[in-house]
Amino acid sequence: MAAGGNLLFPNSPLARSIANLFDVTLVICAIIFVLVTVLVTYCIIRFRARPGEPPPAQVGGHKALEILWTVVPFLILVFIFFLTVAAMRTSDPRRIPKQQPDIVVIGHQFWWEARYPKSGVVTANEIHIPTGRPILIHVGTADVIHSFWVPALGRKMDMIPDRFNAMWISADTPGTYLGACSEYCGAEHAWMRISVIAESPDEFNAWIAHQLGTAPEPSSGATMRGAELFQRMTCVNCHAIAGIPAAQSVGPNLTHIASRRTLGAGVLTNTPENLGLWIRNSQLFKPGNLMPRMNLTDAQLTDLVAYLETLQ
Ligand code: CUA
Repeated sequence: MAAGGNLLFPNSPLARSIANLFDVTLVICAIIFVLVTVLVTYCIIRFRARPGEPPPAQVGGHKALEILWTVVPFLILVFIFFLTVAAMRTSDPRRIPKQQPDIVVIGHQFWWEARYPKSGVVTANEIHIPTGRPILIHVGTADVIHSFWVPALGRKMDMIPDRFNAMWISADTPGTYLGACSEYCGAEHAWMRISVIAESPDEFNAWIAHQLGTAPEPSSGATMRGAELFQRMTCVNCHAIAGIPAAQSVGPNLTHIASRRTLGAGVLTNTPENLGLWIRNSQLFKPGNLMPRMNLTDAQLTDLVAYLETLQ
């Protein structure tokens, strides 16, 4: 399994065109940097002031040189301009079809909601895609401006209030590809991480089928008490679980919380212990997020975690 969040290791034609443009521009700039540094260093040494030497002859311009250092940079920029236009066409196909997107991703302070309109699956922070074909994504926001960016898979796209922007991503090979919000959106902007899990179409379909499955009925004493707490306390105001709609869609859907790899959009590894710490006081880990302190007793917390851990 490849893993990466790296612009230098693109995994799709879309991202590759951006990476190639970056590489070519970097090489051109490196050559210019070396050339200028060598010439400046040479001149500093060769033409330095020496004691007793008369001042050098004063020169008032050099037409050939001036034409040369105007025309050469101009040609270099024209070259980069055409490369850029080509990369833009590949990474961002102009004709975004007016069709239902594969995924709708909505930015929240500070996490990602992902909806799959074709199947009805709703998840958060870890989105699955099938490999080998372009995935049409509509990006929007529930609050401020965020920016969706998974560098190995495609371009970056701002998420703007009151509208949806369309973009493509794709992955050539299975793997986990990391991304991050790339528009400053508040205190915990840096902890607004996203993982894209690319898998073969068969595995992807199996994942969708699993996501569509309803939550198991709590069976043990602890999980039953936990489920009861979940609905009695404020949890259910913000978090939906399949069959238990939330009052408002403020927090991540928790139907399959236990199968996710991280909590708080990447801030903690998803273990039962961390889940308990997060519920007890998520503000410790992600100050300014919208989840209040729950003030649960230890016994209540244990029951709630036991229940949430059944949501595979
Ligand atoms: Cu969301 Cu920065």
